[in-house]
Amino acid sequence: MPKKSEGPNHYFAAYPKSKVKLGMIRAYLRGRPFEFVTSSGVFSKRRVDLGTRLLIESMFLPEKGYALDFGCGYGPVGIVAATFNPSLRVIMVDVNERAVWLAKQNIQHNSLDNAEARRGYLYEPVKNLTFNCILSNPPVSAGMETVKAIIVEAPKHMADKACFQMVVRSKIGGKRLKTLLEEAFGNVEILARGSGYRVFISEKQ
Ligand SMILES: C[S@@+](CC[C@H](N)C(=O)[O-])C[C@H]1O[C@@H](n2cnc3c(N)ncnc32)[C@H](O)[C@@H]1O
Repeated sequence: MPKKSEGPNHYFAAYPKSKVKLGMIRAYLRGRPFEFVTSSGVFSKRRVDLGTRLLIESMFLPEKGYALDFGCGYGPVGIVAATFNPSLRVIMVDVNERAVWLAKQNIQHNSLDNAEARRGYLYEPVKNLTFNCILSNPPVSAGMETVKAIIVEAPKHMADKACFQMVVRSKIGGKRLKTLLEEAFGNVEILARGSGYRVFISEKQ
């Protein structure tokens, strides 16, 4: 786990060093208008990323139970999930302190009482919870070892029949991700494709 003094300026830094410059993203997602507060120092601060959008538009959401938005950034995936399924409890986690602060602002801004954001490394902030669904646009720029850890450790935090959904750029890590999912879950399917991305889904059996 990085310390406060280690704060490089990429989007997956635990403590981004760049000056906070706030902005606002407005987007239609699953047919509804959303607003998100964003800032320098987080992933895709100017617009909803194309991979994120594909995940949001195609994600399968359980009616109730717990959903995890892994690597939530400013919070678009978890906030849309919580908005569409009010009986779902959505936990959003990120290592980036500023991202979690923004996700908390956005939970309030979107008037949600079934979502919360927690800061921490990998699954540490949710180690006592079992999820019915995990959703992620993973930090590929942080390296494949981090992405591998997100996948390999996922089944330990999932209920039987829970689904794991992850979006990735087809040409950057797509093949490797599919193999990792097959190894971790014994099954993998393509849920959606478009704009050079794929959304993979695996079920815990
Ligand atoms: C590609 S971004 C996606 C952000 C957001 N979900 C979206 O779609 O706009 C991946 C996120 O994973 C976070 N991240 C990177 N390494 C992490 C780790 N080890 N544990 C938790 N989150 C991590 C980054 O800080 C980043 O916000």
